[in-house]
Amino acid sequence: MDCDSGSADLAIVGGTVVTNGWAGEASVIIDDGRIRALIEHGGLESPVGSRRVIDAKGKFVLPGAVDPHCHVASRHGEFRTLDNFESASRAALFGGTTTIIDFAIPARGEDPVDALKAKLEMGQLSRCDYALHGCIASAESDVESIVREFAAAGVRTVKLFTTYRGELLVGVDTIERVMKALKKVSGLLYVHAEANDIVEAAQVQAARDGFVRASGMSRTRPAAAEEQAVREVLAAAERTTSPVYFVHQSIPGAVDQVVAARQRGVHAFSESCPHYLVLDDSRYDGDHPERFVCCPPLRGRSIVEALESRLVMGFVHTIGSDHCCYDTEQKLLHSEDVRAMPNGLPGVETRLTVIWDALVHSGKVSPERFVEVVASNAARLNGLYPRKGSIAPGSDADVILLDPAATRRLHANELHMATDYTPYEGRAVTGIPTTVIAQGRVVMTDGEYVDPGPIGRFVSSRPIVV
Ligand code: URP
Ligand code: ZN
Ligand code: ZN
Repeated sequence: MDCDSGSADLAIVGGTVVTNGWAGEASVIIDDGRIRALIEHGGLESPVGSRRVIDAKGKFVLPGAVDPHCHVASRHGEFRTLDNFESASRAALFGGTTTIIDFAIPARGEDPVDALKAKLEMGQLSRCDYALHGCIASAESDVESIVREFAAAGVRTVKLFTTYRGELLVGVDTIERVMKALKKVSGLLYVHAEANDIVEAAQVQAARDGFVRASGMSRTRPAAAEEQAVREVLAAAERTTSPVYFVHQSIPGAVDQVVAARQRGVHAFSESCPHYLVLDDSRYDGDHPERFVCCPPLRGRSIVEALESRLVMGFVHTIGSDHCCYDTEQKLLHSEDVRAMPNGLPGVETRLTVIWDALVHSGKVSPERFVEVVASNAARLNGLYPRKGSIAPGSDADVILLDPAATRRLHANELHMATDYTPYEGRAVTGIPTTVIAQGRVVMTDGEYVDPGPIGRFVSSRPIVV
């Protein structure tokens, strides 16, 4: 329903708004790219005085989602993911994500600040707003000035890896130095936690036993590696009294360590991903094991269920996609040896619908909690809140309508990521983002996309309050 009069650009009426732990019937008034008002029934401002009115009856009206973990145009050894900021942001918008946060991972020998500048340049193609994580990939001598330069450029999160020898692996000394440097800029360390010595020993053993093909992925990166690295990094956080955020936690034992550390006063945070919450390691026995090669690997069904229970209990803070857009050809190139394969799964477009279906439609978590894990907590933990992740006066007008009754089957050829497959091929889902508004513009309605052009802005991180 559209009507044409009045002073605000857009009003969304009749839906159930979910934001900041609150849910209720309300109108959202949008003007000049910002939320102007959120009006409960009986409020004074009339939505009819808006140039356009969207009827949201029967829908949830949610803050545009924030994906804290995307790899766009990302290099790994001889491979490069197949998307750029144009295609990744378009796919994000189709799926209800209006802010993507990408990693500026330096190539071997590249200055981390140069890697950040290169990503800022690439981001100019983006169709939605974006933020960046800096990354330090070797034992740099002047960590403090790198972190200061990141912060001056609007980046207060830094990712470190405890694995991928020769490319990204750093030791505990670097971890502690980066933690200390980040404290000075109110930043937050992001860690990929898998103990590399355990991973490498498992890979050697798997190769000896003939299980190093894609189908043997689980054996090459055991849960013990994740448990051990989380333990070591939490100890470093305790020694330096620093906050820490663990990306892509795949096992309940990792989340439980974060919970226990929080009891001791450590500001630690858990991220998991849709694939660890709904898919299991039986995919490595299927026709396309290579399509599911990611680090950490998919785990056994009982682990998946135990991880889901941690999320339902409120112990997982964010769900990121860990979006990596490789196609089947790239995945197959070295599928006889996972050590040479590109890791990661495409998922920026499917994150919301897969999680809504598995957790909200199933009745396990509330819409309020959904908004926290897909939008507002990621905004907070990246210094973007309340500009992002909130429907409140003054917030950016990034809003989605989600139809809880709409159903579809996911098929790669109907998605928009720059790859030929989805890990969720054929999966039936209920709960679909049907209208997506970015910066106050309606960019997607019922699968129809109106390309807004390269409107995506780099969003600076404010000091992060943990
Ligand atoms: O398998 C994964 N997760 N690949 C992407 C890089 C990373 O480790 O996050
Ligand atoms: Zn990682
Ligand atoms: Zn990742």
